[in-house]
Amino acid sequence: MTVPLFTPLKLRDVILRNRIAMSPMCQYSAVDGVANDWHYVHYGTRAVGGVGLVIVEATAVEPRGRITPYCLGLWDDGQVEPLARIVRFIESHGAVAGIQLAHAGRKASTNRPWKGGGPVPPEEGGWNVVGPSPVPFLPDGPVPEPMTKRDMESIIDAFRQAAKRALAAGFRVAEVHAAHGYLLHEFLSPLSNRRDDEYGGSLENRMRFPLEVVRAVREVWPEEYPLFVRISATDWVPGGWDLDQSVAFAAELKKIGVDLVDCSSGGLSLEQKVQAGPGYQVPFAERIRREVGIATGAVGLITDPEQANGILAAGQADLILLGRVLLREPYWPLRAAAALGVDTGLWPPQYLRAKV
Ligand SMILES: Cc1cc2nc3c(=O)[nH]c(=O)nc-3n(C[C@H](O)[C@H](O)[C@H](O)COP(=O)(O)O)c2cc1C
Repeated sequence: MTVPLFTPLKLRDVILRNRIAMSPMCQYSAVDGVANDWHYVHYGTRAVGGVGLVIVEATAVEPRGRITPYCLGLWDDGQVEPLARIVRFIESHGAVAGIQLAHAGRKASTNRPWKGGGPVPPEEGGWNVVGPSPVPFLPDGPVPEPMTKRDMESIIDAFRQAAKRALAAGFRVAEVHAAHGYLLHEFLSPLSNRRDDEYGGSLENRMRFPLEVVRAVREVWPEEYPLFVRISATDWVPGGWDLDQSVAFAAELKKIGVDLVDCSSGGLSLEQKVQAGPGYQVPFAERIRREVGIATGAVGLITDPEQANGILAAGQADLILLGRVLLREPYWPLRAAAALGVDTGLWPPQYLRAKV
């Protein structure tokens, strides 16, 4: 009897040992975008814990694209080696290392959540934010500088260079962050994109810049390695970005060589009315998978092994991404294997005396 959660997943030439991925989660713990021992232990622990794929948190492609001054970055060659050290550890423990490449757009330059979030003023190291249109995220927050064609070209190039550095660090999966109200999502959503040039208005126009970014990353990302895109499948606001548009976007992503759409939601508007509950975003992954014929990732309040396995067994998604449950419980995959009655050989030999 095969257990879907512990069935390997092959994407291009990369084989994940199981269908469990660590969802990208900001640690807000870097200095000048450089990874340190916190990141090393944090990510390494989840590889030891048995996940198939570790996706390193939103990593800014340029300094202004950081959510906080403490986010990871890949805009400088000096940021490569500390990440490479993490990748070597992850891969030497049987997991594949992935990284999320990101630009925070109008939601950049904020405080760490545990310092209350909110915009960081320039005198405390904050910076001016950019976006598709001069529409702030917070009513009294910074108004983003609308991006010119030149700004777009420079950010596309920043994504391209960051992808090359990610490759140099040894990552084998790259994920472009087009979700949660950050820059690419800001272009997609009519709520944040009020442009009247070829980058705003129609769905085709709103998708243009995100697709240009993804195409640029795909061009430098090797043929044999998979590329993911994380989307917010809906803004949860009437008149905003929604699932129908996400299906259309996913179809375009498929055409340009994206291998998996990671289906999250929300984060663009304070007006959002999220209907959260166990597996609440799974229907997004299911519909995109079925209608577009592309692999999808399901994420969001998936915490139970049977639940995770059931999503895969029902053909609703190809990969399960775990967020907070992995922060609480880094060895979740080991427990899941036991719960589902699979002997995976995932236990590190050093820990075998504790095996359940
Ligand atoms: C501390 C924390 C940091 C996060 N950072 C990111 C991030 O860098 N990129 C991203 O796409 N999502 C981020 N998320 C969202 C998670 O990846 C995930 O989609 C979300 O937590 C829902 O999954 P869960 O219910 O399993 O936690 C973050 C979530 C948490 C809790």
